[in-house]
Formats: sequence, structure tokens, C-alpha cells
Amino acid sequence: MHNRKFALKRGRPIFILIGTILALLVASLPLVVPATANLYQWNLINSQEYKEEHGYWETVELPEEFRINAIHAAMLPTGKVLLVAGSGNDRESFDAYHNDGQIKVLKTVVFDPKTNAVKAVETPSDLFCSGHTFLQDGNLLIAGGTSGYELLEGEVTKPAGVITLHNENPDDKTRTFKQGTKFTSETGKVYVSTREAVLEPAHKMEISEGNAVVHHSSTKVFVEAIEASDSYNAPADLKYKVEGVSEKDANNIYGQGGKMTLEKQDFRGDNKSYEFDPTLEKYVQVGDMKEDRWYPTLPVMTNGDVLAVSGLDGAGVITETTERYDPVTKKWSWGPNQEFPTYPALFRTHDPDILFFSGSSAGYGPQDKGREPGFWNVKTDNFWAVYGLRDPDITETSASVVLPPAKGSNDGRQSSRIMIAGGGGIGESEAVTSRTDIIDLSDPNPIYKPGPDLIEASRYVSLTVLPTDDIFASGGTKDYRSKGNSYNYKTSMIDPTTYQSKRMADEPVGRGYHSGSLLLPDGRVLTFGNDPLYKDENNTKQGVFEQRIGIYSPPYLFKETTRPVLQGEDSTHAKRGDTLSYRTSVMTTAKYARLIPPSSSTHVTNIEQRSIGVVVSQKDGKVNVQLPTDQNVLTNGWYMLYVVDSYGVPSEAKMVKIVN
Ligand code: CU
Repeated sequence: MHNRKFALKRGRPIFILIGTILALLVASLPLVVPATANLYQWNLINSQEYKEEHGYWETVELPEEFRINAIHAAMLPTGKVLLVAGSGNDRESFDAYHNDGQIKVLKTVVFDPKTNAVKAVETPSDLFCSGHTFLQDGNLLIAGGTSGYELLEGEVTKPAGVITLHNENPDDKTRTFKQGTKFTSETGKVYVSTREAVLEPAHKMEISEGNAVVHHSSTKVFVEAIEASDSYNAPADLKYKVEGVSEKDANNIYGQGGKMTLEKQDFRGDNKSYEFDPTLEKYVQVGDMKEDRWYPTLPVMTNGDVLAVSGLDGAGVITETTERYDPVTKKWSWGPNQEFPTYPALFRTHDPDILFFSGSSAGYGPQDKGREPGFWNVKTDNFWAVYGLRDPDITETSASVVLPPAKGSNDGRQSSRIMIAGGGGIGESEAVTSRTDIIDLSDPNPIYKPGPDLIEASRYVSLTVLPTDDIFASGGTKDYRSKGNSYNYKTSMIDPTTYQSKRMADEPVGRGYHSGSLLLPDGRVLTFGNDPLYKDENNTKQGVFEQRIGIYSPPYLFKETTRPVLQGEDSTHAKRGDTLSYRTSVMTTAKYARLIPPSSSTHVTNIEQRSIGVVVSQKDGKVNVQLPTDQNVLTNGWYMLYVVDSYGVPSEAKMVKIVN
């Protein structure tokens, strides 16, 4: 049943917000003509017939002070879109923040796709290449980010490396060692930390009466030599004295060095985590992660806990540690160890303890470890591979998505199928594929089987689930980070029920590395980002980050029929098994309905998208929507409810929050 008491409570802050929007700047919609377009094409793509068949693109240019290198995006349950850059893959911004404490160079904006209004939000730390996911209460959990930028061989001037700090004293206190803390080696060489480190006391565990074992605690910190001299190169396993630790404590609290070298440095992760409150439009700091993570994935378990998986740690090394966030205590605790490449595409399954790894990842990790798709039981830490995936070595920067129920079905049956699409070889490989493969997790022995090919072989394809049970494929480039201007401007609509795929309107803007897409509540699709290595075809000029936003209106928005309308409360709270009831227009024939969670996307990775079948019926000018009862199907949290009519036109979504 639809709960009015909660709905009213929820509604109020949204109305208060409207007042503040007046102060915001509004973006313009310039008419962007694709480079290749001639007047004939221009007229064609703007014609009603063409739009009705292929849809239509708009390109939004935000006012200059709000243009950011959007690497992360989230569809907030308020209807606005959070765009996050942090330092935005811009070393100057990172240095200004990291060395000079200039927090203003870190960027976040909130964009309203209804009005194109935009507002800046203070970013608390460098969230560039963090992980994010919606918690079941509607806050966006963001964890990790950047504590160090990559330095190539030859760019490193001061020998540097990792020191592991140990504390063997269980009766000590938690100690914080500020950025710049000095570490002195046995040979008298001094190094300084590049960031703050927090060291807990050792843990004492009573094993029987009067018998205890002490587990020392440790944390890692990246350090660099105080001078640019290779006399500071040092072997691993030297012991280091730590500034601020007294002679008396030094036996228990000390550093143990890794190699200090002038070798290439990888990007390094951060351990900060925040909840972004969509109503207050503010970051609220929560517990630090145990590990630093750059490029982690954050799957939400059925009970609402979140795992943080993979990422490069504070030393720039891929980690096999995982940890679990408890949204009640807002703290992290260690999970099972399991190695995946960075940003692994991990999906919830019908078993609350089992996640499915589709094979998609985005960025880093060894070639021969953790790349096989399969099931991972996070309770027992068992992993078992699945077979059949074609081009199994071409999965980096591919996209994966949970497919919607059978097209147009109104029987409440769900889909357990997952599709993987496109991808490239590992790193700067030229290998690229147009393969899509589909696996049905509800089969007794699930294996990947061929799906419909993409129009072009590409990496960095974005897949967006539409309310009409189609998958919209956009973006992508043929080569690594769009080298040779290898953009695939072509887009397509894939029907995963019939395996038909149809070419749609070309996107006027190329989207590759650091891009993504989101379904908007009004049925349009937002695309963002693109971070090319080079600007020109010959790979000679440095690339420029694409700051314009794309908005795609699918063909269903151009049908010359009356769009179905759901009238009544928005932001309703409901329970599994409830029937939601909305008034509707006389013209509306509701054929089926879908619940699609507002989701977040980065690096063409969006593991939150799914489309849930509900049973819809119509009586006395009302549309009734019967919600599923199974918590493994319909987890708590926000959903966008779309009703689709017999012409295949979806309504604008009503926001519904599923609660216990
Ligand atoms: Cu990145």
C-alpha cells in the first residue's frame, strides 16, 4: 500500500529546495553540428520522421565556471544529477590541492536535467577515480580516490617507496602521523610521508583464561626522499625510525621499508569515504576504509551492506583485500581476499551471499589473475568460473548490464541475464571487439552465449537500460583512449529479447575513456565525459577533456501519440508486495511497467542498473502496480517507476522508495 504519511515527510525538503534553484545558473543548449554533417544531414536529423525512428541528441554546455571534467555521475533520487571530477585527471589541480591545500580546485556540481540549472558543491577530498553506489536509504556512498598521481620513468626526481608502519603495543593509543612526517632509515637517510597515516594500537586477543595473543597493527604510507639524489635509493626491509615516536616507544612503533627507487610511480589510492546526501546536496564524511583504493567497485549486498572490491592501494599496487561498509555504524571492516582487476563489474544475484563477476573491468590488473568471469561467494570466499565467453582476453573497458525482463511482459517475471559488450585488450592493446555475450544466471549450469554484435568494435561503450526493455548502446572508441580520433559516434538500440539491433542517431560528441551514461526519470539518457590522450588524428597534440553533456531523446519521445501519465504522489514509500495506485489520463493504456533504480556510473561501469518487472492493471481511471515480494529481486532503496503504453511510450517516472 502506498504510504501517505511517509510521502508527506519526504516531500517537504524537495519543495524547500526549489527556492534555492533561483540562485543557480542555467546552461545553454547550443546547436552542435557534427563535424561531418552537411546541410542535408542537418535537416535530416532534425526532421520529425528521423527523430521518430532514430531519436535525437542535444549537447549541453554548462556556464564556464561550472564546466568540469566529469568522471563520475549519479542520478540522485531528487531528479538531479551529481557530476564529480575531484582533481579531474589534471595534475596541476592535484598538485594545487595536495601540495598547497587548495580545496577549491576539486570539483563537484549538481545539474538539474529538467531546467539545465547547475550548482557547485564543495568537494572534501580528491574523489577522482573513487568508487560509488547508492545506499538503500538513498545516500550515495563514495569511497576512495586519489592520493598520488602517476609519474613515468624519468619524471621521478626523488627516490620514493612505501613504508609499512607497525605498532606492537596493545596498550598504545591510535596515532596520527601527519603528511610530511620524517622517517629515518638505519643508514641515516631521511624520507617524508606524502600523506597522513593513522596507526591503531596492536590488538590483544584472549585465547583462554590468562592467555592472550597480540596481533600487531600496521598501515602503509608512501614516502619520498628529502633530496633529489639517487644516494637515497635503498633496498627493501630496512627499519625506519618514525618522527614523533619516543625512544621508549620505538621498539614497538617503527617503519619497515619497501624499496626506495626512482622507478615509475602508479596512481595511488585514498581511504576516505563519504555519503552524499541528495537532499542537502552535501558530502558527509564517514569512516575511513582500511585500505587505500583507486578504481574500486562498490557492490551493494541484498541486506544493504556494501563491499569495496579491488583498486590500487596507497602504494599504487592492485589489492586483493576487500572490505564491508555497514550503513548503520558507517564503518568499514575487512572482508574476504579476492583479486579482481580494477573497477570489476560485480552484480548481485538471487543468492544474497553470491556476486557474479561478468568479466568487465576498467583499467588495471595483471593479465593472468582474477579476469575469468564467474560466481564469488563472499561468505565462503569460493570463486567458480563460468565458460563460453568469446574474446575472453578482450574484456577491459567493456560494458556489462543486467538485462530487463522479456520485452513488454506484464507477468511479474524477472530476468537473470547479464550482457557483456565490446571491450579492448589489456592496457594500451590494439585488440578490440564488437562481441556481445549473454549469460542466464538462472540456468542450472550458466554459460555465456553469443548476443547481437555491436555496430562497431569498440572499447568504452556505454549501455543504458530503457523502460521499454531495450538497451541503448552509445559512445566507444576503436583504440585505447581514442588514439587516432577513433571515436565510434554510432549508437544503437538493442532488443535483448529478439536480439535485433538497430542503428540510432549518431552522438555529435565522441565519448571514450572516463565517460558514462545514465537514464533520466523522464526517459531521456544523459552522457558525460571523455578523456582522450590526444586531440588530433596523428596523436601529436595533448587531448582535452570533453566537458559537454549529451542528452539523448529516444524515438519513443517523438511518437505522435499522447504520452502516458501517472498522477499522484511522487517520492512514495512502499513495501514489497504492496499495490501502488496512480490516477491516469483517459488516453493512457498501461501495458507494462518497470522499476529501474536511479544509478551511478563511472568508466562505463554501472553495476546498479537493473529493470524489475511488476504487474500492472488498469481500472476506473487508475493504474495499479503490484510490487514483487522477493527481497532478492526488489531490494530496499529508490526506484523510478515507468508505465509503458501499447505504443511503446513510457511515462515520466514516479520515484518510489522501497522500505522494510
Ligand atoms: Cu580513471
